[in-house]
Amino acid sequence: MEKFYWGCSTAAAQIEGGYNEDGKGSSIWDYYSLIKGKIKDGSTNQISADSYHKYKDDIKLLKELGCNAYRFSIAWTRIIPDGKGKINEKGLDYYNNVIDECLKNGIEPFITLYHWDMPLSLFKDGGFLNPNFVENFAYYCEIVVSRFHNKVKNWMVVNEPTCIIGGLGGTDSDKEYSMKELLHICHVINLCTAKGTQIIHKYGCLSGSAYCGLIYAPEHDDNKIEYEEAKRRTMILEKNDLNIFSIFTDPAMTGKYPKRLFEVYSKEELPNITNEDLQLIKNNTCDFIGINAYFAFTLSYENGEFVVNKNIDKYRTTIGWHVYDKSLYWAAKIMTDVYHKPFYISENGIAVLDENDEIRSKYLKDHINYLLKAKREGVDVRGYFYWSLMDNFEWFHGYTQKFGLIRIDRSVKNSFYTYKEIIKMNS
Ligand code: BGC
Repeated sequence: MEKFYWGCSTAAAQIEGGYNEDGKGSSIWDYYSLIKGKIKDGSTNQISADSYHKYKDDIKLLKELGCNAYRFSIAWTRIIPDGKGKINEKGLDYYNNVIDECLKNGIEPFITLYHWDMPLSLFKDGGFLNPNFVENFAYYCEIVVSRFHNKVKNWMVVNEPTCIIGGLGGTDSDKEYSMKELLHICHVINLCTAKGTQIIHKYGCLSGSAYCGLIYAPEHDDNKIEYEEAKRRTMILEKNDLNIFSIFTDPAMTGKYPKRLFEVYSKEELPNITNEDLQLIKNNTCDFIGINAYFAFTLSYENGEFVVNKNIDKYRTTIGWHVYDKSLYWAAKIMTDVYHKPFYISENGIAVLDENDEIRSKYLKDHINYLLKAKREGVDVRGYFYWSLMDNFEWFHGYTQKFGLIRIDRSVKNSFYTYKEIIKMNS
């Protein structure tokens, strides 16, 4: 039987701090942090959870949890401070130490190559719209993967392309992009995924990416009409909506763009997609799919009509998201039904301020129960990663949103023990 991975996820720009240490260059998040009014609580990510110095404590806590996997990301600017030039050996040393510490403790690293911290110099040169972006990204991937392929088997190339488009991961959050530009950026991200995958495969490792989008779930478990419509709405590419999976997941998982891309957008809106690009995408598909699932929309079929979110919980987490405990179950069902690839929940979690941490504990139990139900029913679920190991710098929200099982001072919350118990019972 395939090994099941229990883990937690983090991202470099959110937990590391050490923003200018040992030769690190600036990323967009170091830069945004300094712009007045950009970050909700006026905070910066300069120190954040200080994982740059405390990674051994973090890994010790992961071990105490019983985790056998840790998904973290590499900061491009630690490896190549200006994004495309000189290599910084000290940055590679840092990740080498993190990886070794994981392995020493029986924890498999799952490394994300790009979790939104674009090198500032590349951003200033046009970011994704710069014609050399894919080449620069490939150079970075080659350096990292060639260095660590003997120790790290599982790689995730890009985190949540839809949020990148939404202004979090390297597109300019102050700029109004035209649809043509946005579609061009989507294409660049797909080329980066294919290029990264090509490099990962060259070194004999496995490639995936972590995706988010709107998941529709049938409200009644055995209702086929609801399921088919939920699947259709989850996957369909609609004009002027880039918060969808298939514009990214189809190329990454099947090697092809959805046909509808060329039907709903005009030639003038579509980017220049060359035969060479299509060939690169076709020949370099991912080995597994990671879904970052935080909630879902429900769909019921009544009197010949589909109704969205009829009975959804009115409760909202502090970040404003609703809670739907079957979301992981349906994400797993739909994605494996469509792509037939090994499936991971690469992120799932809740932002709450709750002294007893009861809400998070319940959330964990309910969500994981349903994910394991999918696994029992034969879905190829390979792992679950909680977001996040610790409270951290939640992008534009600063430190106002608390997703952690642990606080920044490394004191543990009650949900830490809940997750520990779940892992113990299911290992
Ligand atoms: C991202 C994380 C983020 C989390 C909670 C995901 O969209 O990958 O970086 O902190 O959700 O907002």
